[in-house]
Amino acid sequence: MSTRIKLPLRVTEADGATPLERAKSTLPEIEWVAAADDIAAIWRLKAERNAIVLAHNYMTPDIYHGVADFTGDSLGLARLAEQTDADVIVFAGVHFMAETAKITCPDKTVLIPDPLAGCSLAESITGADVRLLRERYPGVPVVAYVNTSAEVKAEVDICCTSGNAVEVVESLGSDRVIFLPDQYLGRWVASQTGTEVILWEGSCMVHDRFTGDDLRRYRADTPGVEIIAHPECPPDVLAEADFVGSTAGMIGFVKDRRPDRVVMVTECSMADNVALEVPGVEFVRPCNLCPHMKRITLAKIRHSLETMTTAVEIDVDVAERARLSVDRMLAIGGR
Ligand code: 13P
Ligand code: SF4
Repeated sequence: MSTRIKLPLRVTEADGATPLERAKSTLPEIEWVAAADDIAAIWRLKAERNAIVLAHNYMTPDIYHGVADFTGDSLGLARLAEQTDADVIVFAGVHFMAETAKITCPDKTVLIPDPLAGCSLAESITGADVRLLRERYPGVPVVAYVNTSAEVKAEVDICCTSGNAVEVVESLGSDRVIFLPDQYLGRWVASQTGTEVILWEGSCMVHDRFTGDDLRRYRADTPGVEIIAHPECPPDVLAEADFVGSTAGMIGFVKDRRPDRVVMVTECSMADNVALEVPGVEFVRPCNLCPHMKRITLAKIRHSLETMTTAVEIDVDVAERARLSVDRMLAIGGR
């Protein structure tokens, strides 16, 4: 089947493939014609609008390889949003990520292709909850995972991502911190820093489903497999893993170490995306899907650029206070 569309000029990686060629190799032929039309339209619209697409590592391969200008974890994308000189950022990720971009770039137009792409972890806590925690533990610094609303970020002392949570907590120099809303990331940070961590009992619906027994079964079924896990997983999972890190940390591990066989204990699109970049590495693929991330599609990204919707808006006072917490985080290292 032939398609008559202009190939984008951008060359992504050392293999010299264009985004279109890379995206094509990730899709069944039957889905390709519609995808090719959307991909070509998105590249044209990006040029017309001086827009970029920032895509989280959990996006499907057609988005990740086909239309993203930059891909990354929450920390990397927050940094890129702050640095770009594009007028428009289309955020291919969930709402709190687009909000973080808007917090760091209040003068830019930040579009989310589906405003209902939320995060059940972020929705587990409100600004009022944080104020109650502060009353209960006066003087104890409050650290918020970026998987929170702008309203929550406005109430805390500093934000963190899974890529820098340990460095952020250490930077506070406090024996005790309140860490919210992910209890497992909080426990992981406590185990790495020796800091006493007061937890909020939130968890991610995708990572909570993995168990230590699952990991022992992967090892038994696939001898020699390296197991790498996201720190939103429960403690018995992390105890079984060979490496724990953010989505970018996990990708870095596979690219640097090139294990013969690997299992990424996280959302399913990660393995699909990385597999294309590391031929020769065999991926064991348990599939826990994030229904919030999967709301973002090529067709919605195209529609978003055509109609310039939906623009992320944040109350000015909330955004200014949230920015302090995000900026404190960005001033700290971590990968
Ligand atoms: P990362 O910052 O590691 O990409 O994680 C974001 C997320 O939502 C994981 O569930
Ligand atoms: Fe939220 Fe979990 Fe989905 Fe990440 S994977 S967006 S934490 S529900």
